[in-house]
Amino acid sequence: MLTGHPANNVPESVYAKLGAGLHTRPDHPICMIKQAVYDFFDGGDFGAFTKLDDLPAIVPATANFDDVLVPADHVSRSPNDTYYVDDETVLRCHTSAHQAATLQKGERAFLVTGDVYRRDSVDASHYPVFHQMEGVRVYEEGEWKAAGAASGAAHAEANLKAALEGLAARLFGAGAETRWVDAYFPFTEPSFELEVLFRGEWLEVLGCGVVQPAILDRAGVARGAAAWAFGLGLERLAMVLFGIPDIRLFWTDDARFTKQFRAGDLTTRFSPYSKFPPCFKDVSFWQADGGELTENDVCEVVRSLAGDLAEAVTLVDAFTHPKTGRISHCYRVAYRSMDRSLEDGEINELQEGVRAALSERVELR
Ligand code: PHE
Repeated sequence: MLTGHPANNVPESVYAKLGAGLHTRPDHPICMIKQAVYDFFDGGDFGAFTKLDDLPAIVPATANFDDVLVPADHVSRSPNDTYYVDDETVLRCHTSAHQAATLQKGERAFLVTGDVYRRDSVDASHYPVFHQMEGVRVYEEGEWKAAGAASGAAHAEANLKAALEGLAARLFGAGAETRWVDAYFPFTEPSFELEVLFRGEWLEVLGCGVVQPAILDRAGVARGAAAWAFGLGLERLAMVLFGIPDIRLFWTDDARFTKQFRAGDLTTRFSPYSKFPPCFKDVSFWQADGGELTENDVCEVVRSLAGDLAEAVTLVDAFTHPKTGRISHCYRVAYRSMDRSLEDGEINELQEGVRAALSERVELR
């Protein structure tokens, strides 16, 4: 049990996900994507990568933030966004939490896969737990000079883009249209995101860039070296590749889902086995004068009571009372089971529970 410390904001429903290991079950779509990326790097000439997929998800806050140069006032550090076990310990919010320590151990090319945790909205593509794969590749000074590159950073950037374009082509087909978008991450400069055109829409599938020299320096990498790093969203890639419409499906034990996937077969396209109608319930409340109840707070209340029956939570109305200046928010909760139809009574009971939990913190309308 992790509870007890005043700074702890990890609900039981999230704590229960630790150790599930979806990325280590061979026939699970998350693991199949991991394996496909491994195969791509093993088959290319990018170097030999050490693979780590069992590093603990509970990490020092310093590893998650400070070691990758996240500024002291960055929003990602706030308990509205990150799960704290205590003041100094978090559920990692990205696999970048392992960059520095793994470099420090002497690894110079590695792939780290694991479950990551973020307080976030509730919808078809957001879930408090998801999976990332971090890739890091260091080029020692001798290596990039021998390749005739103008600088280590230029060599790292060119190789990073070649590797990831190759990976996208492998996963999505040689004809896949991709584009690079400039991005910002504290730990890389320059930084990019790769988007893939899929069913007419540009989808962001990864963040990456040239590793900040200070990270290499502190980890004891020899001066003159340069490195690239990327972070892949495995659910995102799996949803696109297999046509999986809702992120909750990755967590179901329903055989109608699990039986559709087999290790090694990347041609599988998910065939939906049922789509029961959603049921919508609204709840409105006045924000307290002091601190506001954020969307993440509301989502967590719903998620912890309704679990995977909560499909989406949407802010549908906000207004300020003209006389009192009080702020009213109305959220719409969509309840839907992936594998059965829900009873009216069951949904009403859930919604009553949500109302009761919210009423402890705000005045319902
Ligand atoms: N950690 C970043 C994220 O979670 C992704 C990333 C990894 C970006 C490595 C650059 C380099 O969004």
